[in-house]
Amino acid sequence: MSFTLPDLPYSYDALAPYMSRETLEYHHDKHHLAYVNNGNNLLKGTEFEGKSLEEIVKGSFGKNAPLFNNAGQHYNHLHFWHWLKPNGGGAIPGELEKKLVEDFGSLDKFKEEFVAAGVGQFGSGWAWLAVKDGKLVVTKTPNGENPLVHGATPILGVDVWEHSYYIDYRNRRPDYLKAFVEHLVNWEYVAELYSKAG
Ligand SMILES: [Fe+2]
Repeated sequence: MSFTLPDLPYSYDALAPYMSRETLEYHHDKHHLAYVNNGNNLLKGTEFEGKSLEEIVKGSFGKNAPLFNNAGQHYNHLHFWHWLKPNGGGAIPGELEKKLVEDFGSLDKFKEEFVAAGVGQFGSGWAWLAVKDGKLVVTKTPNGENPLVHGATPILGVDVWEHSYYIDYRNRRPDYLKAFVEHLVNWEYVAELYSKAG
């Protein structure tokens, strides 16, 4: 398969004031597009042509760094647009809420750990909520890596590359992460991925 850039599932103004039109125009139209274009060029002539995106991400990790970086970022951003929604961050669907409380002690504790992972990722990368061996875990990864290559299934991720927040928050990454958790997360999509992760 070749990679294609999907449209955003909402308008460019829909996430303001927590994420501006300008951020989404750069992040989606330029950064994500570059991963798509570079990924397609790097895929040509490799053993991964014709494979699914997930197979490419897992298969290229540790073997073909340029392809992995772009395929990983394409995978991450495909989901990232759906991990956001206008008026997000509200009630968490029942089953998932129960599991979060079970595995983290409380919702506040989960949110604290998730934000701390994002703040603590040195340089570019992502913070994650993932399912590993039947448990919900918070992790962080550098650059384009994600939990798929560490034997886990990502169900929520936040992009902490500066291109995701610098226009709106400048160097205040913690404020961006708090706004993400409190006002932007699309919990219905997270719950959908959780139910598929089994
Ligand atoms: Fe990004």
